[in-house]
Amino acid sequence: MSPLWIGTSWKMTKTLAEGRVWAEGLRDHLASEHGGQAPSGVQPFVIPSFTATTAVRGVLGEDSPVLLGVQNAHWEDEGAWTGEVSVPQARDAGAQVVEIGHSERREHFGETVKTTRLKVAAALRHGLTPLLCIGESAEVKDAGGSSAFILEQAAGALEGLSAEELARVVIAYEPIWAIGEKGRPATVEELVEPFAALGEQYSGRVMGLLYGGSVNLDNAAELLGIEHVAGLFVGRTAWKLEGYLELLRIAEAHAAS
Ligand code: 13P
Repeated sequence: MSPLWIGTSWKMTKTLAEGRVWAEGLRDHLASEHGGQAPSGVQPFVIPSFTATTAVRGVLGEDSPVLLGVQNAHWEDEGAWTGEVSVPQARDAGAQVVEIGHSERREHFGETVKTTRLKVAAALRHGLTPLLCIGESAEVKDAGGSSAFILEQAAGALEGLSAEELARVVIAYEPIWAIGEKGRPATVEELVEPFAALGEQYSGRVMGLLYGGSVNLDNAAELLGIEHVAGLFVGRTAWKLEGYLELLRIAEAHAAS
């Protein structure tokens, strides 16, 4: 079985000092409990804000089993794009993963299906793993359109990829209604159908299908039990290191079961 991807985006939180403390704690935990390796059956990842990328890489070290990501990247390699960061720059800072199309970026920063497609291509072009986020609004869900909507988002972003390229993509399904402080945790029943739809289309073709949105220590195990769920993408619960370490333990136990 492929490892369960268990990771967090810090979104727009943490000072450099706070980020270093979190990363040092993770590094030291893996060193003392796992001989410096990832927990068995688990692929940890962390996605700090841009300013903390190099600091976290420095703390984790070059050979860390923890993958490091950025929360966004531009599709061009360089140029007059004030305020943007390119994939080569992200790679230069130590990133291996590029998060693309999070709903907060689609809602507030004009991310579209077209820009997600360009960004997925840019990440692949430079050998980084695109972590494509998809998810529907409460309105779409209430109208019964969840699966069709997320399949369309994914197809639009992944259009034109070869089988080899597709195999390097990770997809995170994050329903907007389940994300953040205003979200409510999804029930297992609500997620079975969207994951069945995603699984039918992408299982065995992409590197992994993750779930994100109000993941917490009480629901993580049952979410990992949903067919086709191969990992968790977590915000608030993992911002405290203790929460993240507990999620790693839950995933390790799940992988062993
Ligand atoms: P929360 O876990 O805080 O709901 O955030 C999920 C998320 O958006 C991860 O990308």
